[in-house]
Amino acid sequence: MTIDVQATDLDFQTPCLVVPIWQDEPLGGIAAELNEKLNGLVAEIQSDDGFKGAVGETRVLYTNGAIGPSRAILVGLGKREKVSSASLRKAAAKAARGVRAIKRSSFAFVVPQIENLETARVAQCLIEGAMLGLHLFHDFKTDPEIKAQTQIESITLLGDDLGNLQRGAQSGHMRSEANIRAREWVNLPSNFKSPQLLAEIAQRIAADNGLRCEVWDEKKIVEERMLALHAVGMGSDNPPRFIILEHAPAGTENDAPLILVGKGMTFDTGGYSIKPATGMEDMKDDMGGAAAVLGAMSALRLLQPPKRIIGLVASAENMINGRAQRPGDIVTARNGKTIEVLNTDAEGRLILADALSYACELKPEKIIDLATLTGAIGVALGQEAAGLFCNNDELAAQVQAAGETSGERVWRFPLWDEYRDHIKGTVSDVKNIGIERRAGSIAAAVFLEKFVADGIPWAHLDIAAVAFIREDRPLVQRGATGFGVGLLLELLKDF
Ligand code: BES
Ligand code: MN
Ligand code: ZN
Repeated sequence: MTIDVQATDLDFQTPCLVVPIWQDEPLGGIAAELNEKLNGLVAEIQSDDGFKGAVGETRVLYTNGAIGPSRAILVGLGKREKVSSASLRKAAAKAARGVRAIKRSSFAFVVPQIENLETARVAQCLIEGAMLGLHLFHDFKTDPEIKAQTQIESITLLGDDLGNLQRGAQSGHMRSEANIRAREWVNLPSNFKSPQLLAEIAQRIAADNGLRCEVWDEKKIVEERMLALHAVGMGSDNPPRFIILEHAPAGTENDAPLILVGKGMTFDTGGYSIKPATGMEDMKDDMGGAAAVLGAMSALRLLQPPKRIIGLVASAENMINGRAQRPGDIVTARNGKTIEVLNTDAEGRLILADALSYACELKPEKIIDLATLTGAIGVALGQEAAGLFCNNDELAAQVQAAGETSGERVWRFPLWDEYRDHIKGTVSDVKNIGIERRAGSIAAAVFLEKFVADGIPWAHLDIAAVAFIREDRPLVQRGATGFGVGLLLELLKDF
């Protein structure tokens, strides 16, 4: 996809011109000009055709030689006083899908002037909306018609402040590409992915972005005392991997890093505490946290954050064979704590226990982990937000603000002492499940907390319900969402 910016002009050479319309307000600017050139057609569509200009509402116009482009698409921006990053992204997504529906392979978008939003930000959101809204996963379709479906090859933003438009468009492009990479890894079926594949993806990211990459195989994982990760991976023929990616600009090599940690289960059957068959297919998404971390790290060459950043991925496949762990097994994590594995399906917290222990040894400034950790988080929040669990108010506020900006909502849960009792061990230090049907997501979080050293600010995002969706949305086709990539890039930018 190529993206550029040009001065606003109704005769700009494009197969389709997208013109934004505000709800409940007289036509102004380019929309008024278009209306005039088309002898009042736009106003007629508003008055006679029920076109209100609600967010994402669209109408296709045949311009019949009155302006340069042969088609125009009106797209509603909603009411001016309610405009936000989210509404702009949605409007752009609907407009871009509209362009594809009329089989045009490129379009120009007239960028609206908005009082309280910087031009660069508006441009960024429009590009994000268009690119994310257009993304489709059809790598495994063989129907030539689907393959030949119109691809949007270029988008032009039309406006006055070309410098800021360009800056915003580039940022939107970079963020969307990182998000889409994450979606594609998550959408891959599990017979096409493995811990080793994630390691290879990380190595490629390192080569492309000038990062250091280290991959630990199963032998090294045991030598390094990551016995919880090892135990989870033991039941699979695809052995576990621990992946380290490091961005350290010159002079920052000894600085306290920001560490990102991702859960990378490339499939989760539940193990001997096996999951029901219905819905098990969704467990290919159990590496959504890893995908978010890898997706964010894959944009570092363009983002160029000045600070030291480390990405860690613990990856395994939760399967069953003669060596798989059993319910009741006790394992010792890297920090020396013993865990009774009362449920082999609570495996994410086991692999994260070792990853978090290791992260703390690196004396980080802060740690953020992302994990498709509990079904319970979807019961609490649905697909509208990820769960946030944090031992530090300032970090929690930063994560919340980053999510608000990127359009990835998070909602904070408490970590009260009473919850810590839920996971107290009887024969071990801790057990890997809490009390049945009670605060399952918090129980998982207080478990993770046992592996975070005192005094280190740490945020855990439970993305189990938002990493993969079952119905189409404006910005995401059914499937992987890439949740977390935008939020992390927002945080890395000003960390
Ligand atoms: N990977 C699952 C959580 C999950 C659920 C991810 C739905 C995506 C969608 C996790 O490993 C898991 O199985 N958690 C258990 C924990 C329980 C056994 C305490 C769960 O939530 O049921
Ligand atoms: Mn599980
Ligand atoms: Zn899992």
